[in-house]
Amino acid sequence: MTVRYFKNDGIRDSRENSVSAYPLDMWYVVALSKELSSVPIARMVLDKPIVIYRTPDGQVNVLEDRCCHRDLPLSSGTIEEQGIRCGYHGLLYDGSGKCIEVPGQKKVPSKARVSSYHVKEQDALVWVWFGAEENSEPLSQPPRYEVHNNEAYVYGGDVYHYDAPYQLIHDNLLDLSHLGYVHLHTIGGDAKIHMNAEMNVTSEGETVRVTRYMRNSNPPPTYLAAYPFKDKVDRWQEIEFCPSHLKIWTGAVDVNTDAVDDPNRGGFHMRGLHCVTPESPTSSHYFWTIATNPIDNVEGIKAKVIEQTALTFDEDKVVIEAQYANMKRFEGKPMIDIHVDVAANKARRIIESMKSS
Ligand code: FES
Ligand SMILES: [Fe+2]
Repeated sequence: MTVRYFKNDGIRDSRENSVSAYPLDMWYVVALSKELSSVPIARMVLDKPIVIYRTPDGQVNVLEDRCCHRDLPLSSGTIEEQGIRCGYHGLLYDGSGKCIEVPGQKKVPSKARVSSYHVKEQDALVWVWFGAEENSEPLSQPPRYEVHNNEAYVYGGDVYHYDAPYQLIHDNLLDLSHLGYVHLHTIGGDAKIHMNAEMNVTSEGETVRVTRYMRNSNPPPTYLAAYPFKDKVDRWQEIEFCPSHLKIWTGAVDVNTDAVDDPNRGGFHMRGLHCVTPESPTSSHYFWTIATNPIDNVEGIKAKVIEQTALTFDEDKVVIEAQYANMKRFEGKPMIDIHVDVAANKARRIIESMKSS
């Protein structure tokens, strides 16, 4: 039996050992494109307060959320053609963080600037580079997520805030055996079937893959609401973990009608994207989308799948925040591992190695 003490759960802060609390030199999602409006977004990401905004010409900029004059958050300012204007004395900043106008003063002081971040908007996601060194150039491109551009699917999503460390959310997403207990009324179904699923876990580099197949099982309520299954189904769950996000493809086909592991399988699909971005060692942003492939009543089924998914994630949030609150109350008590923890433990080892490299 393995006994485990989670490191970096916010209780024993890894920064005490001068190791970053998070993997760096990578891209993190800081917003869904649909969040950007005419009002700037204030968000704390990896302990850094940032302002995210889109200029009228469509460009997304990310700056530190601070005016260099008297420190008012720039997020309380206004968006203009050329950038963002502070809401106190009107300094105007361009996308690079340089102050380009001081109202009533001819010369702009050369030191009037704030830090800016490398940002890339693609696939309806806003990615920001967080380097190990301040102001470092990105060493890679942000990951692509083609499902958002695939015409076979419709999707929607939301942003949740968690009072819990990001790795507890990874643990939850990598262990779908909890579906039968936590999500009994949505995507769950029979708990025993989940616990006894045919499971395979592999890892390569910074990726962990999990496949779970549950043959000849009853379709759960969400599936029945969205697709005309005849009776029993063969279900699959395929998870791919990367440090910045997880892709979870779940679904079902009528029993014995299609290969449950065929890449081109039919049936009912739910493709989830889960971008878990630390806010601080003890809190997280969770950007999620869910895509599905309705065969008719597209808008109705899309709305139903998004609603059911949101309910599901509400259930996870309750569990994970309660878990974290209790970890603090029982700080230092050992935890044991069981068979469902294999993938989550692999992911924890990857994150650990990235933090110390
Ligand atoms: S605090 Fe921003 S202009 Fe004065
Ligand atoms: Fe869950």
